[in-house]
Amino acid sequence: MKRTEIKDALLSQEFGKEINVKGWVRNKRGSKNVAFIALNDGSTINNLQLVIDLNVIPEEKLALMHAGASVSANGCLVKSAGGQQNVELSVSEIELLGPADPEKYPLQPKKHSLEFLRTISHLRFRTNTFGAVMRLRHAMVFGIHKFFNDRGFYNIHTPLITASDCEGAGEMFQVTTLDLNNLPKNEEGKIDYTQDFFGKSTNLTVSGQLEGELAATALSKIYTFGPTFRAENSNTPRHLAEFWMIEPEMAFYDINDNMDLAEEMLKYLIKYALDNCMDDLRFLSNRLQEEEKGRKEEEKSMELIEKLHFVLEHPFERVTYTQAIDILKNCNYNKKGKFEYPITGWGVDLQSEHERYLVEKHFKRPVILTDYPMEIKAFYMKQNEDGKTVRAMDVLFPGIGEIIGGSERETDLGKLLKRMHEVGIPEASMDWYLDSRRFGSVPHSGYGLGFERLILFITGMTNIRDVIAFPRTPKNCLY
Ligand code: 4AD
Ligand code: MG
Repeated sequence: MKRTEIKDALLSQEFGKEINVKGWVRNKRGSKNVAFIALNDGSTINNLQLVIDLNVIPEEKLALMHAGASVSANGCLVKSAGGQQNVELSVSEIELLGPADPEKYPLQPKKHSLEFLRTISHLRFRTNTFGAVMRLRHAMVFGIHKFFNDRGFYNIHTPLITASDCEGAGEMFQVTTLDLNNLPKNEEGKIDYTQDFFGKSTNLTVSGQLEGELAATALSKIYTFGPTFRAENSNTPRHLAEFWMIEPEMAFYDINDNMDLAEEMLKYLIKYALDNCMDDLRFLSNRLQEEEKGRKEEEKSMELIEKLHFVLEHPFERVTYTQAIDILKNCNYNKKGKFEYPITGWGVDLQSEHERYLVEKHFKRPVILTDYPMEIKAFYMKQNEDGKTVRAMDVLFPGIGEIIGGSERETDLGKLLKRMHEVGIPEASMDWYLDSRRFGSVPHSGYGLGFERLILFITGMTNIRDVIAFPRTPKNCLY
């Protein structure tokens, strides 16, 4: 018999119909005459209850069907007498596909801490929480492609191995086939990269933006969606060494068009999740509330679904960096020394605690900060007339801080070259990029959305290691 997925079985109204289901046992319980198995196959967060009459199926047959075991069952769909689902399966035949030794299987049906689950990332897909997170991740990937496709953007695959450093922050992972125990040296005594695989020093990319700009100055509207790598030693709940980024780049867009697109996209994705993933969101909302039970009222976060609606329904606050510094410098929080990094004056980079203060305490909604000091931003951003600031835009979200970083780009070749010299980027190495300013240079803008930070926000999870299947962080690379 053809297998029916549990998601479809649960929605079915065809009571009395004989079907086959396959999946993994979440839980087994029973009494003298009847046994119940909660079966999950990942198609939905909900389990299908298998009802097994022990007069029909001998109990020995169920002996190895513990939590984690895989089974195949045939039976009739019947209207459920009680419980959460309105359908259950009255089993006529059941077969063990793969046993799971209850003495050894780490995921017994009880609550496990997220920290413990991180140590068994290869099995945590089988928990409700990670099933929900992974289904939401998928929905967001799909929603992102749909959003851009519907608006005439082209998806561009930019290289993962690169010879340039987009952000200029020097946080790149080197890619080499040289023997690290026996490095070839040139006459100056330095490593001879001409003998390396590509004949030069190469790294994993931190961003697809520079290549994206080249595509946008021909195709007008493009986006990249790929993994990016950063060797920054940030052991925080919001940083990964390998994360996914969405980078749209648009010719003829100024910074205001860029902000409009970013806000429209984020709201579209939130709505996409609400429209398509309600079962998983409800589960994650309950999980979060459960987790925050012991906390004081003022420390609790807004209920997940309410929070998603809240962001959907309010315009993002748009303020300049200079205005934000005024707010932060004069706020009681700063005066009472509550920031780990006190705000002393104009020019300092904002930490996530400052970003979250602006969003959560001051404006109480997402904020787009613009016009940052040139010194703390990347070389490619458009310089303002004041000679001090650049047309940067960072989108700040509750519970997250920076979710998007972007800007209008500098189009003036002279200004761009001057800035590159100041920050020490050799012109020769970027000749290809500069051609976009030499030939048919146009105003253009773009931004990067950190995919895992988006998933943190949508799922209400609090550690970025719990929204990617196999997290890579300093000193941690399992599998
Ligand atoms: O602000 P960032 O560094 O901007 C860029 O890379 C630009 N080239 C984007 C562009 O204009 N096309 O990074 C963009 C976003 C951040 O706002 C953040 O959400 C995410 O990427 N991000 C990280 N996410 C997880 N772990 C890390 N280590 C991250 N670093 C940045
Ligand atoms: Mg940034």
